Amino acid sequence: MVYETGSGPVEALRDISLTIADGEFIALVGPSGCGKSTLLRIIAGLRPMTSGAVRVAGEPVTRPLTSVGMVFQAPVLLKWRTILDNVLLPAELAGHDARKYRDRAMDLLGIVGLSDFASKLPRELSGGMQQRASIVRALLLDPPLLLMDEPFGALDAMTRDEMNIELLRVWGETSEAGKRKTILFVTHSIPEAVFLADRAVVMSPRPGRIAEVTPIHLARPRTVETRIRPEFGELSMAIYHRLHGRVPA
Ligand SMILES: Nc1ncnc2c1ncn2[C@@H]1O[C@H](COP(=O)(O)OP(=O)(O)O)[C@@H](O)[C@H]1O
Ligand SMILES: [Mg+2]
Repeated sequence: MVYETGSGPVEALRDISLTIADGEFIALVGPSGCGKSTLLRIIAGLRPMTSGAVRVAGEPVTRPLTSVGMVFQAPVLLKWRTILDNVLLPAELAGHDARKYRDRAMDLLGIVGLSDFASKLPRELSGGMQQRASIVRALLLDPPLLLMDEPFGALDAMTRDEMNIELLRVWGETSEAGKRKTILFVTHSIPEAVFLADRAVVMSPRPGRIAEVTPIHLARPRTVETRIRPEFGELSMAIYHRLHGRVPA
């Protein structure tokens, strides 16, 4: 991917080759500016790549995907709509009868602990709660693919840890692998990548390339105890080393 800018071309991504299995949870880790958001947008069909090809479920991506849920770093809720009406937005945009999705929306809001907030406006919720609502919105149409761009980056550490466990539950960690969604999750937190993913894709600085793909063979379901296992520390250290070219002091 090369961006044309006022000061000349900027090569954002180079030689990216990655195959993600159906139902896999991939964490994309790398320094700021290495092209993570660019890659996500290309996969979603929101930005045309300058060369190469992307296929989702075997189909070349040539326009914005409809069967995808996207979650961004900021909740991006419409401030004049209630939480429920924000969550129902994808159904409306897809031309469905939103009323048919109310029960599902309420179920999902219940899963993330927002049942009592369905009729509130976004400003009446904390940042963490708003982000949970945007995740629910991304899940409304039950997309097989979720693209998440640092969704928990703005949350405090405690809420973030809770959201990680919540996300794994929503993903279907405890159901059969074949029934899970495919998730591509961008983060610059190494522990978050290790906690969540089946594989961590480590990217190098600009132009963004894949430096390493690290399989995370930690047992599932992952729990609060996962974070204190020795393997958790070893994997985090290995990724840190790959990113920074040295062992942390
Ligand atoms: N719309 C754009 N126009 C020009 N350059 C861009 C644009 N979007 C991103 N870039 C550049 O591409 C590189 C990768 O950006 P980005 O994908 O946002 O990285 P990341 O999400 O990893 O922080 C950066 O150098 C950034 O300045
Ligand atoms: Mg980004």
